[in-house]
Amino acid sequence: MTRIPKAEFARRRRALMGEMAAGSIAILPAAPVRHRNRDIEYAYRQDSDFQYLTGFPEPEAVLALIPGREYGEYVLFCREKDPEVELWEGERVGPEDAVRHYGADDAFPISDIHDILPGLIEGRERVYYAIGANPDFDRQLFDWINLIRAKANQGAQPPKELVALDPLIHEARLFKTAAEIRVIREAAAISVQAHRRAMQACRAGLREYHLEAELDYAFRKGGARMTAYGSIVASGRNACIMHYQRNDALLKDGDLVLIDAGCELDCYASDVTRTFPVSGVFSPEQKVLYEIVLAANEAAFGYIAPGRNWDEAHAATVRIITEGLVDLGLLRGTVDALIEQGAYREFYMHRAGHWLGLDVHDVGDYRIGDEWRMLEPGMAMTVEPGIYVHPDNRNVARKWRGIGIRIEDNVVVNRQGYEVLTDGVPKAVDEIERLMADARRATE
Ligand code: GLY
Ligand code: MN
Ligand code: MN
Repeated sequence: MTRIPKAEFARRRRALMGEMAAGSIAILPAAPVRHRNRDIEYAYRQDSDFQYLTGFPEPEAVLALIPGREYGEYVLFCREKDPEVELWEGERVGPEDAVRHYGADDAFPISDIHDILPGLIEGRERVYYAIGANPDFDRQLFDWINLIRAKANQGAQPPKELVALDPLIHEARLFKTAAEIRVIREAAAISVQAHRRAMQACRAGLREYHLEAELDYAFRKGGARMTAYGSIVASGRNACIMHYQRNDALLKDGDLVLIDAGCELDCYASDVTRTFPVSGVFSPEQKVLYEIVLAANEAAFGYIAPGRNWDEAHAATVRIITEGLVDLGLLRGTVDALIEQGAYREFYMHRAGHWLGLDVHDVGDYRIGDEWRMLEPGMAMTVEPGIYVHPDNRNVARKWRGIGIRIEDNVVVNRQGYEVLTDGVPKAVDEIERLMADARRATE
């Protein structure tokens, strides 16, 4: 069971059915089990849309929503109870408890889906479905529809339209409820503890994965069994690789280490980055670049409030980073022209943030037509400006090369403006140095 109340899942399904045209059915499969090698499976992670609508934690399940169906609008197909299999693989919910605990109006064994689902589709004008998202299931669905077509001469009515289901769900997912915000806040709080722990444990001579171990310990100790994405622990020049995953380099005095890591709680993500010196003290070059990124991070919050558009915070970070790089001589020219040309992209090649939710890069449109989307209460996002000086950049003085810095926080828009969920990890230079110095003193 998840921290999201059962009644909220029912509200989500009701809202979706309210958006569907009359005479329709929505069909959504659970995420399949994926194999890592031979008979070893990856840790199972439910499909985010399926999770959003059901909270049902198992693979081999299919949701059907049939607005107006007399015998129940929410039908779930799932694995049957089987004591012999459960002895090896763990408990299954089973159709009876799917009704009792997960709010299904009707639940059937997944093995019966071929006999039952075509009958539920038959006579419905439209099928809402995430077309192309799962090729195996696409084929399956078309087989069922063909089965109905084959009986047309007996009066069977196949559906006439396939409609994309995901845009409807994704628009709803963009607006987080109070219960969802509580879960994201809790995930962020666990990640805050993990980042503090890694900063405190950092010593030259350790390897990046030793800090990853500190993160993993804190995540699980805090109650989050999974990370929301592969943790990035990138020291020195590795910080200039955006999706660095090796995490095996030696931590050296004089280098910075960038940690981008967040846990997942009940499928909700947190996504936090801090950058700090291996030695516990920033060098002058590291500090001056760091202060620019920090100023950009802090300035962005001034543009997060209802009525601001999605791009304003990003634009603020671009201006501060461009100004800072000009001041230091890493960029040459006038700030406006450099922004216009996008010259900052050599050093700051990503956007200042993204939506956050059941997916770390969460769903929801950033633009409506030609316009940037306006921020509204309930939207959750990251703020994550950065500066990365490529190690081989010959246009800048050697002392800057190979420095990579990002500072990433998680934020929820509310009526007053915003709430930062991750300010428990220090980000000011003196606060970071103090936390690290205190930790070293304590272990001397
Ligand atoms: N960790 C992925 C990101 O920051 O967007
Ligand atoms: Mn991140
Ligand atoms: Mn992010």
